[in-house]
Order: sequence, then structure tokens, then C-alpha cells
Amino acid sequence: MTTRETTPETTPVIELRGVGKSYGSFRALEDISLSVQEGHVTCVLGDNGAGKSTLIKTLAGLHPPTDGEILVDGEPVTFANPRDALNHGIATVYQDLAVVGQMPVWRNFFLGQEMTGRFGMLREAEMRDITADRLQCMGVDLKDVSVPIASLSGGQRQVVAIARAVYFGARVLILDEPTAALGVKQSGMVLRFIAAARDEGIGVILITHNPHHAHLVGDHFVLLNLGRRVLDAAREDVTLEQLTLEMAGGGELDSLAHELER
Ligand SMILES: Nc1ncnc2c1ncn2[C@@H]1O[C@H](COP(=O)(O)OP(=O)(O)OP(=O)(O)O)[C@@H](O)[C@H]1O
Ligand SMILES: [Mg+2]
Repeated sequence: MTTRETTPETTPVIELRGVGKSYGSFRALEDISLSVQEGHVTCVLGDNGAGKSTLIKTLAGLHPPTDGEILVDGEPVTFANPRDALNHGIATVYQDLAVVGQMPVWRNFFLGQEMTGRFGMLREAEMRDITADRLQCMGVDLKDVSVPIASLSGGQRQVVAIARAVYFGARVLILDEPTAALGVKQSGMVLRFIAAARDEGIGVILITHNPHHAHLVGDHFVLLNLGRRVLDAAREDVTLEQLTLEMAGGGELDSLAHELER
């Protein structure tokens, strides 16, 4: 494991300053600032409707923010579309992975970025080898990369998507609830993978409902509530208990316990 002190003097690989987003008259995000350093994990937590996916969409180039700035390596950027964001090294793995079910794993790994030789022939053997190698490096034990991606578990599919982003040179990896649909063991695999991406120097933004998962890998925590940032704390300044309590709405949980008392 690498050392994970925060080094505020280095320029964040990505930074949001006062980002706001309106959908018509509805204010989904208000004055959000956050930054991600290389080799660090920033967790964005929040309940349903808090604005987590909206935040990702502004970063991924799907919905430009209405206010505020996005900076990459300290330079202001605007993303007209997801391709623009990708060109800046920002890769997003959505929860409903855009994978083609019946395609072999290796085909999926290289989807849209196929290696071709003379006359446009696919360099299949090479692509297979690279896929197998990358997955193995990251600790996924897959005997055959020719099986359809649909035959993989949800966790393995997340991992393939992460490995792919890393291989194609992502500098920032945004993960939208990668463990939401997974059991304990598979969540562990995905979290291990996030740590591996972090150790390779990638800046990770992890969106999650789960404070336990966040606390296992996070260097920094941002909690959203109704589009506003209600907590912004470095790892050393917040305990898992505090995070869990904040997530649960603190006092709200007490009154619920009271209401449900038997
Ligand atoms: N395209 C849209 N048009 C109008 N309102 C939207 C749109 N997308 C999201 N919203 C609203 O913005 C708010 C934040 O939604 P968002 O999807 O970002 O929440 P979330 O934190 O990702 O929630 P969840 O945990 O349920 O995924 C919600 O009230 C939602 O209804
Ligand atoms: Mg969401």
C-alpha cells in the first residue's frame, strides 16, 4: 500500500469550483467544490436524489454545468460531450455498464479502440493476450477471455470496465455506485480494484451510498444532500461512525427509531 497523505500543494488532476446545475427551474446542484489528486480516492456520498449522478454527468460531459468551473490540471475546461471528457483522460464507468452481452470479454475490452493490422485486420491474438494480462495483473482470475461478457458476475464486469479505463490511459476514473448491486465478496473485489487503480496514480471519484465501502478506500469524503455539499472531510478528520451517522441523516435516524419502537 502506498502512503496516502494529502498534499494540498500539488495541483489536483480535476477540480470543481462552485459548480451548479439547473434542470429548468429545478436546482439539482448548488455551489459544489471538490478536487481529486492523482493517486487519491474522493468519495461522493448521498441519499437518493442528492445529486450524485447529476454531478457525474457534469464531469463526464453529458450535461454541462449551469454555473461554476471545471479544471483539469489547473486549467479551466468545458466538455461539449463525453468524448471531450475522455480526451482529457476522464473515464466514467456507469452502473448499467454499456457492455455488449454476447461479445467476448476481450472484444468488449477493446470496443471502439480495436487494434488493427494491415488491411484493417483485427489483431485478435494480441488483444486477447493484453486483456488476459491486464485482468490477471489486477487480480481477476478469468480462465478464458473469449467467454461472453454476459457470463461474468456483476463484480467481474465492473472490474473489466475499470481495467479497460486504466489500460486506455484514464487519469481520472469516475465510478457510479459500482458496488450497489453486489454482495460482500464481489464488492470486496471491486474495492480492491479501485485501490489498485489508485496505486497506479489514477484519481478516483467513487460514488456510493455505502459509508463502509467509502471508508475502506477513501482519502476524502464529500456528502451531498439535496444538491448541496453538507460534509467535506479528509480521511484523518472523519471516522466511519461519523460518516455513517451523517449518511443516515443523524437526528432523522433517532426519530425514526423512536417512531418504530415496539
Ligand atoms: N434530466 C433531469 N431533468 C430534471 N430533473 C432531473 C434530471 N436528472 C435528475 N433530476 C433531478 O435532480 C435531482 C438529483 O438527481 P440525481 O439523479 O443526480 O440523484 P442521485 O444522488 O444520483 O440519486 P440516486 O441515489 O437515486 O441515484 C433529483 O431530484 C432528480 O429528480
Ligand atoms: Mg444516481
